[in-house]
Amino acid sequence: MSLQGPKTAEWFGRASSALVNGVSSGFRYWGDDDTLVIDRGEGAYAFDMDGKRYIDYQLGFGPIILGHGHQSVVDAVSKAASRGTVFAMTTAVEVEAAEAMLKAIPWLDALRFTNTGTEATMHAIRLARAVTGKDLIVKFEGAYHGAHDYVAFSTAGSPVGNLGSRRSPVPYQVSSGVPSTIRDYIRIAPFNDLDFMEQLFQRDGHRIAAILAEPMMGNLFGLMPIDGYLEGLRAITDEWGSMLIFDEVKTGFRMGLGGAAEYFGIVPDIGTYAKSMGNGYPIAAVGGRAEVMSAWAEGGVMQAGTYSGNSIGAAATIATIAELTTGGPYAQIDKVGNALMSGLAKICSDHSEPATIIGIPSMFSIFFSDRELKDYRDTAHHDGDLYAEVITGMIHRGVMPVDDAKEPWFISSAHSDEDVAETLTAFEEALVEARS
Ligand SMILES: Cc1ncc(COP(=O)(O)O)c(C=O)c1O
Repeated sequence: MSLQGPKTAEWFGRASSALVNGVSSGFRYWGDDDTLVIDRGEGAYAFDMDGKRYIDYQLGFGPIILGHGHQSVVDAVSKAASRGTVFAMTTAVEVEAAEAMLKAIPWLDALRFTNTGTEATMHAIRLARAVTGKDLIVKFEGAYHGAHDYVAFSTAGSPVGNLGSRRSPVPYQVSSGVPSTIRDYIRIAPFNDLDFMEQLFQRDGHRIAAILAEPMMGNLFGLMPIDGYLEGLRAITDEWGSMLIFDEVKTGFRMGLGGAAEYFGIVPDIGTYAKSMGNGYPIAAVGGRAEVMSAWAEGGVMQAGTYSGNSIGAAATIATIAELTTGGPYAQIDKVGNALMSGLAKICSDHSEPATIIGIPSMFSIFFSDRELKDYRDTAHHDGDLYAEVITGMIHRGVMPVDDAKEPWFISSAHSDEDVAETLTAFEEALVEARS
């Protein structure tokens, strides 16, 4: 049965005539019968063109930490919009947004704004290469860092069987149109394996500019680092004069105000931020330690962007950080997220379904397996078909996580206890239906 009601189907027809596959991002296409067209969002809910309400756990793939259309953010953005948005000059609102970021994330000495996470990781990589004078980037199997060429390898869609030996992983190119020579600049590593990383640096450390890491794998079920792993990455990069880049596009402001760096107590050299910093408005940032960021000040390392630091995103950032700083949103997210994580685990156990709930209350996923998830290759043991079937059953019931478990459920401060109850009922019904 299609997910589209009659009006949504009509709008998807129009969408398909104007947008390729009816979407503006390849990840949003769910097939001709199931791709939805959304009319509006309100708090924890998204409404399709038929007025059907969904409890939204996609939250735009993460950004909507305060809920859709949060009033104080809307007010700040409206005010900024009426005063002009870009000037090819620094604005006061941009300065205030940068100050708010530096206060929230104390290890950052300086930053510059970009508009998307893709831009942020692209600039972070260039900066790391410029500062170290080296050219290789280490990327983890299953990690996603945006749509640019340098990271279009071994992302979460890659077939595990095509990744080569675990001892010497093959960079799996996930897109045509990327020059084959780009592959030469990437080294792929399994997450959570320090011995592997040490051996890789013994071999190539003199050429490695940076390890690009999501400290918690926000594109891989919300997988956490094992004890001592991030400390190990820090020590190895220090030893070899390489940069440690934390891609905090998903973890930033979700793991707390100070992001993953604060959560794990590890200071990287460069951090990239986007998503939750602006509650859904297009804003991102690259920041870092003074010695690193000074490369931009000295010149000769290109960083630019017409819309970088635009007033809309900057105002959204100030308002979002102000809300998060009260602590209230985090308390609500923890309450709801914990209730969901324990409720989902209990339902799986009640139905003798082998499963582990992975992650933290603000972003977590369900690993349908009796095995442990330690790195990307373990996802071969996850029952992805069952997961997709359960989630599709939930979406029919008006509860909407992403139907691929690698993309976590995201919780906002607008989600309520009632949403938890409705979600757990939908999950249990959909699980029973899928198994019968
Ligand atoms: C960890 C991470 N880095 C970078 C990106 C790219 O961000 P954007 O989609 O804003 O370009 C994403 C997007 O999901 C991400 O999850």
